[in-house]
Amino acid sequence: MNPLRKILVTSALPYANGSIHLGHLVEYIQTDIWVRFQQMRGHVCHYVCADDTHGTPVMLRAEKEGIPPETLIQRVKAEHERDFAGFHIRFDHYHSTHGDETRHFAETIYRRLRDAGCIDVRSIEQYYDPVREMFLPDRFIQGTCPKCRAVDQYGDSCEACGASYSTTDLLNPRSVVSGATPIRKQSDHYFFRLGLSEAFLKQWTRAGHLQTEAANKMDEWLSSGLSDWDISRDAPYFGFEIPDAPGKFFYVWLDAPIGYMGSFQHLCDRVGLDFAEYWNPDSTTELYHFIGKDILYFHALFWPALLQRTGFRTPTRIFAHGFLTVNGEKMSKSRGTFITAASYLELGLDPEWLRYYYACKLNGSLEDIDLNLRDFVARVNSDLVGKFVNIASRSAGFLVKRFGGRLAAIEVDTGLDYNPESEAGFIAELYESRDYARAIRRIMELADAVNQYVDTHKPWELAKSPDHDARLHQVCSTTLRLFRDLTLYLKPILPHLAERVEAFLNTSLTWDAIHHPLPEGHVINAYQHLTTRVDDKQMDALVAANQQSLTAAALPAPAACEAFADTISFEEFSRIDLRVARVSQAEAVAGADKLLRLTLDLGGETRTVLAGIKSAYDPSQLEGKHLVMVANLAPRKMKFGISEGMVLAASDESAGPFVLFPDAGAKPGMRIR
Ligand code: MSP
Ligand code: ZN
Repeated sequence: MNPLRKILVTSALPYANGSIHLGHLVEYIQTDIWVRFQQMRGHVCHYVCADDTHGTPVMLRAEKEGIPPETLIQRVKAEHERDFAGFHIRFDHYHSTHGDETRHFAETIYRRLRDAGCIDVRSIEQYYDPVREMFLPDRFIQGTCPKCRAVDQYGDSCEACGASYSTTDLLNPRSVVSGATPIRKQSDHYFFRLGLSEAFLKQWTRAGHLQTEAANKMDEWLSSGLSDWDISRDAPYFGFEIPDAPGKFFYVWLDAPIGYMGSFQHLCDRVGLDFAEYWNPDSTTELYHFIGKDILYFHALFWPALLQRTGFRTPTRIFAHGFLTVNGEKMSKSRGTFITAASYLELGLDPEWLRYYYACKLNGSLEDIDLNLRDFVARVNSDLVGKFVNIASRSAGFLVKRFGGRLAAIEVDTGLDYNPESEAGFIAELYESRDYARAIRRIMELADAVNQYVDTHKPWELAKSPDHDARLHQVCSTTLRLFRDLTLYLKPILPHLAERVEAFLNTSLTWDAIHHPLPEGHVINAYQHLTTRVDDKQMDALVAANQQSLTAAALPAPAACEAFADTISFEEFSRIDLRVARVSQAEAVAGADKLLRLTLDLGGETRTVLAGIKSAYDPSQLEGKHLVMVANLAPRKMKFGISEGMVLAASDESAGPFVLFPDAGAKPGMRIR
């Protein structure tokens, strides 16, 4: 057994302006598994987190709902905690950054920075909403792209042509908050002089605190020079006011990581831990932050620099992970793959299925991980139920019914090449290095071997004749001992399932228990149901529950139009301008999986249409062909550009799309009537 370690672990603090979704859960499940593993090993391991509550989006959302931000963040926090608990994420404390502890540390850190000459104040010019009387972050400004003239583009980049520019180049800028034309306005901002920490960061980022991939990324940033970091925002802002600067607030990203300290302080007060033991510079305890790769910059540069400058310890390691894709694509609301944690639980899906699936995919690297819903079903059914749970259900029944649940002596020669101690050591190392995927692969190999043992000795055959009772007893006892070991290995991933196994095996599964097989004469209880199979229909229901129809939102209210009636009038039909068009050019849209960009010739006029037909048509195959388009559809802004019309195609759930082609002789521009 390793000497006792004292460990503090955090996951990134989720924003208080949105629901927990399956992407978030990659992180919280990964962290929870690691924490439970450390605790099972007998180490002291505290796991804290909190809601990240400050900033403009929270402020504006509360305003929109007509409630104070405090009320909003309280409600969201309760939802977040409910969702996390639903997935068996076991925090020692879950806090809010909007609390006294975080305020205290934010102020302390700021004062120390200021006194050490690490804060610079200077005036900068920004967009300002004269109606709402507030400065506007880039994402709250929209306007026309200076390059392609697409309307309604964000302040820093154009979704239509992909150009990025500075907010000041945007044409006809508008405040998203009030619609007013923003003006340029000066104000004082407070900067943390990050450049002063350059030497420290160059050394720190190469001292084993980061994954190699992450360290390389930091190198890129370090070598392009560290700019000062703007840590203040002007009122109105939902956050903490800077102590000596009325009307100035700490930028949300300043107090967010400090929220780790705030949450831990609260835990210390609650259960009597010593905060300093975990945060003093000479601390012998360990500190780990689990984060997504998108927030590495904050955790691997700003955060260690802040801590080092202000007399606190720096993290032992930062564990960054990749992003979740669903069915190989970015999560999408229209595809129904932006799946909320709550919807998964509401449908009665077992949270341990997802824990198991994520564990199968997590390997401690920064690679993205894919949740393929069909593969999810297959894995859960074949591994979790087919290989693992079945072992218990096959042998526990005989033991309880025939032998009063009493285990027979250990079979010395099982014929299995299995050494519990060395397997446990190997699997422990994989957990420690967050390579859960390999841990599971090994555990499932062992499960295969146990199943083989059962198949070889065929307890169901032995059970047919009382002559074989002793042998049946021995085989089932051996099987259950092996099953106990497998459960022990899987317990960090499947804590509730393991609890039920503990109940029926009448034992408790610490990592150390591997040295103590269930002894002869040990009595077990009746088998408890562990988990069921999942099926594709449940996945379809999950997607359906999360599908947000874009067209539904775009339609006027039913009362105002006939859209929901069974028939339409001829006048209504004749408003749709269907035309023959010739494909003069067709190409794949970079970055889009389903789209082709078609240049359509309407006989004198050309249109660019983004059509979701890439899965069925090669661009070259379409060029020169005639097809049918809706020519008077209002241009639609899509993620990859503006689409000026629609191509007609047929499809259903199982096949398509099939583009409609007019008969030979049809000319570009002809109306369809
Ligand atoms: N509030 C900040 C973190 C502050 S930490 C001091 C934030 N919040 S977040 O809600 O956007 O994300 C919380 C965590 O979930 C982050 O580590 C983020 O990387 C992770 N994920 C959010 N979406 C994700 C996926 N789609 N996939 C994997 N992880 C994702 O960032
Ligand atoms: Zn553009």
